[in-house]
Amino acid sequence: MMQDLRAAAAYIQAHSNSFQPDTGIILGTGLGALAREVEVEHEINYADIPNFPLSTVESHAGRLLLGRMAGKKVAVLQGRFHYYEGYSMQQVAMPVRVLKLLGIGRLLVSNAAGGLNPDFNIADLMLIDDHINLQPGNPLIGPNPDELGPRFPDMFAPYDADLLARAEAAAQALGQAGTTRRGVYASVPGPMLETPAEYRYLRTIGADAVGMSTVPEVIAARHLGLPVLAVSVITDLCAPGHLKPVVLADIFAAAGAAEPRLTALIKAVVEGL
Ligand code: HPA
Repeated sequence: MMQDLRAAAAYIQAHSNSFQPDTGIILGTGLGALAREVEVEHEINYADIPNFPLSTVESHAGRLLLGRMAGKKVAVLQGRFHYYEGYSMQQVAMPVRVLKLLGIGRLLVSNAAGGLNPDFNIADLMLIDDHINLQPGNPLIGPNPDELGPRFPDMFAPYDADLLARAEAAAQALGQAGTTRRGVYASVPGPMLETPAEYRYLRTIGADAVGMSTVPEVIAARHLGLPVLAVSVITDLCAPGHLKPVVLADIFAAAGAAEPRLTALIKAVVEGL
């Protein structure tokens, strides 16, 4: 595994004048506009990076952007990999590990999620403060390269308290406090959405939102010792009484409606780093 990771990192370094990002950012479904806030210095297609998986989902671009956001050096993964696409958990986590080899010191993640908490509204942002992994595996299964991290990493605080505080302060300052929530994200394999009974179950076990991504990358990041901030855009409401068939176009529309707020929030957090 280390050989594959090193080859990918070496290719990126060779094609970016050895750019050293401080912050890694993963852009989720329909949330690509954040990329417009990056003064791009180097742009690399995933297809050109040795051993990198290829994005199969239309709403994910499949590009690595290296440059500056609010003056800070960032590496933006425009497009992520999901287990439901058929990738192994190792592949889903690979970009995070490669960014760590490039030098990032923290990871910011966004995603689209269904809202389970009855207080949530469509297009709210939810700062993830804990998660429940319901994916059928995780990227740490298998031989453990000690140079990546410990065999048994701690998960007491998967989401960084300092970054959460910065995000909440930024939401306040931007006048977004009313639409910025905090909660527990449950990660399911998908690609089908949930049955009504499954939504009730997810709420019962303590989740505020549900989605098909993020947790594998967060587990890999915590294994690497990276502090993580993760934000969900609530794209549909799944609380009893709100349930209706999910229309993908509605999910993209909700993500689009929240995008300016998400972009402003992430930019403000990055600016303050
Ligand atoms: N369930 C799972 N994933 C999702 C949902 C949902 O309701 N909405 C957006 N991603």
